[in-house]
Amino acid sequence: PARKFVVGNWKMHGNLAALPVLGAIDAAARETPAVDVGVAVPATLITAAWQTANAIHVGAQDIHPADKGAHTGCLSAPMVKDAGAAFTIVGHSECRAGRQESDDEVRGKAEAARRHGLSVILCVGEPLEVREAGQAEAVVRAQLENCLPADADGAWLSVAYEPIWAIGTGRSATQDDIAAMHAVLRETCRAALGPAGDGVRLLYGGSVTPANAAEILATPNVDGVLVGGASLTAETFLPIIAHA
Ligand code: G3H
Repeated sequence: PARKFVVGNWKMHGNLAALPVLGAIDAAARETPAVDVGVAVPATLITAAWQTANAIHVGAQDIHPADKGAHTGCLSAPMVKDAGAAFTIVGHSECRAGRQESDDEVRGKAEAARRHGLSVILCVGEPLEVREAGQAEAVVRAQLENCLPADADGAWLSVAYEPIWAIGTGRSATQDDIAAMHAVLRETCRAALGPAGDGVRLLYGGSVTPANAAEILATPNVDGVLVGGASLTAETFLPIIAHA
């Protein structure tokens, strides 16, 4: 894919007082029209974010696979779309672990998003013990195969590789490890989707900072980054956008 995608995931951070940060990110996005910039904000901020920042893609961090129902505390794809979201993350490891989410549910969420016109960032990634056992590539390949909707394409789907041990730890994966895993992801997308698999953007996430972003973004088959902590301030997120 030609265009890089730099996405912030604010997780459970930020309130209306953080809108100026989105304003600064929006201004940076306007200055770098060759890069797609997104921020997955807390659901409480989707509408205000969408009204404040229209050069960036505003996203949700998760959705429920059903359109409506007795699911207290959950939000559906049509709800976040109505609030102003253009995309949603699904399958983040923090959601998978916290709610014992299965791959089938994650696929269901991606399919629901697609039905309602949301783009999707589908997250996969292995825990440390799997990497240490030399099983990372096999486990992540299976995770992606199980989560990938059958007719997906790059017009609406991105896949984010986030090794769990690299999230919020300050220890990002090495460039070699990222390159090897992203080659596996590309191969898996091609095998499942045919030529459409080439168009799926593959993002890396896990302790991306202004210091390592340029190298990570220059890695083969890395079409963008999914940034947690460093997306919370303009001082740390804008330099990452500038490296894309
Ligand atoms: O979705 C973002 C990731 O979980 C990465 O978080 O950049 O704080 O390590 P981090």
